[in-house]
Amino acid sequence: MKFSATILTALAASAVANYAPIKVECPKDVNISRPADGLSHQEADYINERHKKTSKALREYLGGLDIKARGNNTFDTDSFLNETSPKLAIAAAGGGFRAMLVGAGVIAALDKRVDENNKNGGFLQSADYLAGLSGGAWLVGSLVLNDWPTVPEIQADPQIWYLNKSLVGSVEPGSMNTVGLFAKVLADTTSKLAAGYQTSLTDQWGRLVSYQTINSSHTKGGLDATEVTWSGIRNISSFVDHEMPFPIILGTSLFPGTSHDVDQIKFNNSIIEMTPYEWGTWDKNIRQFVDTEYLGTEMSDGKPTGNCTRRYDNAGFLMGTSSSIFNMDMKTLGFGGFESVLLQDLFSALDIVNEGSFNVAVYNPNPFYQQVGMQTNQTISKALYVCDGGFDKETIPILPFLQPEREVDVVIAIDPSTDTEESWPDGESLRATQNKSDWEFGDDVFPKIPSNETFISKNLTTKPVFFGCNTTNLKTYKDSDRYSPVIVYVPMSDITYPSNFSTGKLSYTNEEQQRTINNGYNMMTRSNGTEDSNWDKCLGCVTLLREFQRRDSDVPNDCEQCFSDYCYN
Ligand SMILES: *[C@@H]1O[C@H](CO)[C@@H](O)[C@H](O)[C@H]1NC(C)=O
Ligand SMILES: *[C@@H]1O[C@H](CO)[C@@H](O)[C@H](O)[C@H]1NC(C)=O
Ligand SMILES: *[C@@H]1O[C@H](CO)[C@@H](O)[C@H](O)[C@H]1NC(C)=O
Ligand SMILES: *[C@@H]1O[C@H](CO)[C@@H](O)[C@H](O)[C@H]1NC(C)=O
Ligand SMILES: *[C@@H]1O[C@H](CO)[C@@H](O)[C@H](O)[C@H]1NC(C)=O
Ligand SMILES: *[C@@H]1O[C@H](CO)[C@@H](O)[C@H](O)[C@H]1NC(C)=O
Ligand SMILES: *[C@@H]1O[C@H](CO)[C@@H](O)[C@H](O)[C@H]1NC(C)=O
Ligand SMILES: *[C@@H]1O[C@H](CO)[C@@H](O)[C@H](O)[C@H]1NC(C)=O
Ligand SMILES: *[C@@H]1O[C@H](CO)[C@@H](O)[C@H](O)[C@H]1NC(C)=O
Ligand SMILES: *[C@@H]1O[C@H](CO)[C@@H](O)[C@H](O)[C@H]1NC(C)=O
Ligand SMILES: *[C@@H]1O[C@H](CO)[C@@H](O)[C@H](O)[C@H]1NC(C)=O
Ligand SMILES: *[C@@H]1O[C@H](CO)[C@@H](O)[C@H](O)[C@H]1NC(C)=O
Repeated sequence: MKFSATILTALAASAVANYAPIKVECPKDVNISRPADGLSHQEADYINERHKKTSKALREYLGGLDIKARGNNTFDTDSFLNETSPKLAIAAAGGGFRAMLVGAGVIAALDKRVDENNKNGGFLQSADYLAGLSGGAWLVGSLVLNDWPTVPEIQADPQIWYLNKSLVGSVEPGSMNTVGLFAKVLADTTSKLAAGYQTSLTDQWGRLVSYQTINSSHTKGGLDATEVTWSGIRNISSFVDHEMPFPIILGTSLFPGTSHDVDQIKFNNSIIEMTPYEWGTWDKNIRQFVDTEYLGTEMSDGKPTGNCTRRYDNAGFLMGTSSSIFNMDMKTLGFGGFESVLLQDLFSALDIVNEGSFNVAVYNPNPFYQQVGMQTNQTISKALYVCDGGFDKETIPILPFLQPEREVDVVIAIDPSTDTEESWPDGESLRATQNKSDWEFGDDVFPKIPSNETFISKNLTTKPVFFGCNTTNLKTYKDSDRYSPVIVYVPMSDITYPSNFSTGKLSYTNEEQQRTINNGYNMMTRSNGTEDSNWDKCLGCVTLLREFQRRDSDVPNDCEQCFSDYCYN
């Protein structure tokens, strides 16, 4: 009778309608909407505090590498970084569970808490920003919403990432079974509809995503963390203490009156950023953000038209938006087996629940509704449609770090894509980012990315590669003397495991999960330095490259060697 007990508990918990947004009086001291004329003061404050920690951590991390300058002298990182210190970021790409797990391995390799002998550990502690998209957003969500555990800690937790189970539940006794799960999903999302907010497939999908990313023991919401919101990250202690990099997840918005077909999505579709503070876009035709906490508030020209809404920014809904892939053929994504049947059954029933067929996330009310002065028609429709952040082919969330306002110098770009016929990366995502950057910032701000053929023939997919080292051929941002960040491209390859599973694969055995994560770890550490004993220094050196260039200073001998080994020119 365990099943029915689960269902009953589930339904009882949702009877309080934790998922449904609520109406509140609008706060007097908050601007619900603002033009993106710079960083929000909250993000700027966060980064200011975080950077005090990261600049110290970076000195420790680099100090442990014993980078040699001229002769046999150790390069003095302490005095070099005494006054200014670069900002580092990490971008975790999409590609379902595969991407989440490969990304997790890379993050573990950068985290000094995981293995004190690993000299790449410390980069994570030195990073100011962490972005995720789709499967990468699940990774970021798992880390952030659970109060910043290490990857091995998540792996040890049976509640997260569902070892030997699947996104759509399991029939194992004692766990949330499929029927109970679906009952709960429907009860939750129906409560949102009943509260007067349009739901879509992404609401149900987001429930499934949150069940496997949030450890309920860390939340106040009881059974399944239903009430965890993205703005609620502001209250998580590792965030309050600036112990974590500033998290950002991405979605892609659609133009009104256009087909939701993924083939229609191009680089001029606006990329939506979702941070604990803001939801919106830097897209040159919009450049507007709303306060994440009050997402779902009915707006006209940036002003609330009545009371405000809270709890619309459910964490599962936002992570679900970033991974909302159902405007694409599920077969293409490699969905198969029993999960696919279950998902399709669930989804075919949902048109009735959602009172309409919406295969992408519906943000109704549209935060940009009737906004005056925008070069886009995304202001004309009451609802804004948003889908997977990678559907313009920019599957690695680099864009947030190209915004010159963020002053990022280095981005680790994890690429777990399956671009080639054999399902390995070939740089497609970087080429899409180059297109976007050319459109948004002008040509040559982002480095020229070579063709897929070049990627394969020059072995750019077998080990990390630095793009954009040489600024001679780059332009600075308009009205600025800054160059775009150096991209540390970390492609998925078969170092110790063929981890190129299909995006639609929803259940991983314990072994598959462990070995996929371990492969990511080996990609990032170059197999603990066994493929190149200099690698540790090289990852350290690249964090300083833009700073060397800005100061036009001597480059330490070790770093010169590294740039010649890892820079693509
Ligand atoms: C706004 O909220 C206040 C307090 O919750 C309530 O008294 C009022 O009726 C609400 N107004 C509208 C228009 O919903
Ligand atoms: C709200 O916006 C106005 C106008 O841009 C600005 O003067 C004010 O400081 C903002 N308030 C807050 C709390 O950010
Ligand atoms: C360089 O210094 C290290 C210790 O930091 C020492 O072990 C090594 O022998 C020195 N090499 C040369 C060429 O002096
Ligand atoms: C860094 O700067 C401070 C104050 O300017 C100075 O006291 C300190 O000695 C410097 N540290 C190094 C390693 O240069
Ligand atoms: C989940 O919560 C439990 C109870 O607080 C804790 O023991 C466990 O370590 C948590 N898991 C993670 C990954 O933080
Ligand atoms: C997962 O399944 C494998 C084989 O079916 C089994 O050996 C392993 O113990 C299981 N792991 C967990 C955590 O249930
Ligand atoms: C943070 O916690 C406080 C106290 O519980 C609460 O009043 C506030 O609404 C929370 N903030 C967010 C954004 O959830
Ligand atoms: C909105 O703009 C997009 C992009 O320019 C265009 O494709 C679409 O047809 C427009 N939609 C409407 C309803 O005008
Ligand atoms: C490179 O991309 C083109 C166009 O997408 C494709 O036709 C070609 O087969 C690809 N080449 C390789 C080596 O994958
Ligand atoms: C690429 O790697 C293969 C296998 O390691 C090697 O044989 C080949 O020479 C490399 N090609 C280039 C251009 O480095
Ligand atoms: C940078 O590019 C310029 C122009 O292509 C070239 O002359 C120069 O040697 C390059 N510098 C390095 C360090 O590769
Ligand atoms: C590198 O070290 C880690 C342990 O820190 C281990 O899990 C991994 O398998 C090692 N990689 C290789 C290629 O031996």
